[in-house]
Amino acid sequence: MLILGIESSCDETSAALVEDGARILSNVVASQVATHAEYGGVVPELASREHLRAIVPIVRQAFEKAGRRYGDVDAVAVTSGPGLVGSLLVGLTYAKAMALSLGKPLIGVNHLEGHIHSVLLERRTRGEPDPEFPALALIVSGGHTLLVLVTPEENGPGLRYRIIGRTRDDAAGEAYDKVAKLLGLGYPGGPVIDRLAGHGDAHAVPFTPPKIKGSLLDFSFSGIKTAVLRYVQSEALEEEARQRRTHLPATTEQLLQLCSQRTLNLLASFQYAVVEDLWTRTRAAAQAYDVRTVMVSGGVACNSLLRRRFGHLDGLPVGFPSPALSTDNAAMIAAAAYPKMLARRFAGFDLGADPQLQLEVS
Ligand code: KG4
Ligand code: ZN
Repeated sequence: MLILGIESSCDETSAALVEDGARILSNVVASQVATHAEYGGVVPELASREHLRAIVPIVRQAFEKAGRRYGDVDAVAVTSGPGLVGSLLVGLTYAKAMALSLGKPLIGVNHLEGHIHSVLLERRTRGEPDPEFPALALIVSGGHTLLVLVTPEENGPGLRYRIIGRTRDDAAGEAYDKVAKLLGLGYPGGPVIDRLAGHGDAHAVPFTPPKIKGSLLDFSFSGIKTAVLRYVQSEALEEEARQRRTHLPATTEQLLQLCSQRTLNLLASFQYAVVEDLWTRTRAAAQAYDVRTVMVSGGVACNSLLRRRFGHLDGLPVGFPSPALSTDNAAMIAAAAYPKMLARRFAGFDLGADPQLQLEVS
């Protein structure tokens, strides 16, 4: 069963061919980082235009790399939300046209379900069985910070999802991106802060863990971000941030030359605070729901400290996707579509883009 996956919910245009929800024949990703970098975040209008430019060649490349023809696909799967409406519409419209012209079914996929499936997909690629359920999925990206309880569907091949924790304000990746913008470190902020943090003292700047009324499992990162801003002001770190902003060097070594030890300590402390908070609440959720497995996915799952920290979680097996499958990609969309294909859960051609799409219980 060959599924073409298409993903365009944010700033990556991606197409993939995945066989039987397990074998990635191709997974082509066109990143728009260069377009959005000067704005320090994704500009929705520019994102839609870039998707329009990229979608046709990216799908073509996915077929070329896989050595397959358009007529070989059994279904076309596409992200229908959540995400930026203009971006979603590009992938959705293209997928509908493709499915219609090939006479193949269309499958709508929730982007978050895709992130969860990135972990399962790679296990299947390695020939490993699915993890033991109930599983706890932590999705940490630029747009989301969610704790999801995952169980198998009772009478079908799919999974059931229950959101048990979410961010009340910024997503974890968004906090990384905003702190990087404030400190003149470019966009996206996660990878660069990850690299620089290793050169600082994680205990130099104490951040108070956020207290959230009503839930131990919800997140809040805006307080940490504001605390970083206050520290930058009180320690007069704005001038060096301004210099980096006007002259952002290409290599980490050059960037280190432009960072004072206080800035490096701040970054290390910020990263430590974010990772500790993610770990503590994930652990609380794992205990509260007595899960057998933990899966971490989304762009922030690339973080080196987070990967180390989650290596120890009360002895529970913790699964991560490889970095290429942690960030947005279409292989995870094709993988999430596979159980829907088996259950013949197809979408109509009136499938709309839903920027606020919730994880449905299937
Ligand atoms: O999953 P993703 O590609 O897109 C969304 O669905 O948002 O995640 C992108 C986010 C960005 O905020 C980026 O700064 C963050 O993931 N990120 C990281 C790292 N690599 C990417 N955050 C922390 N450490 C990293 N190594
Ligand atoms: Zn994502």
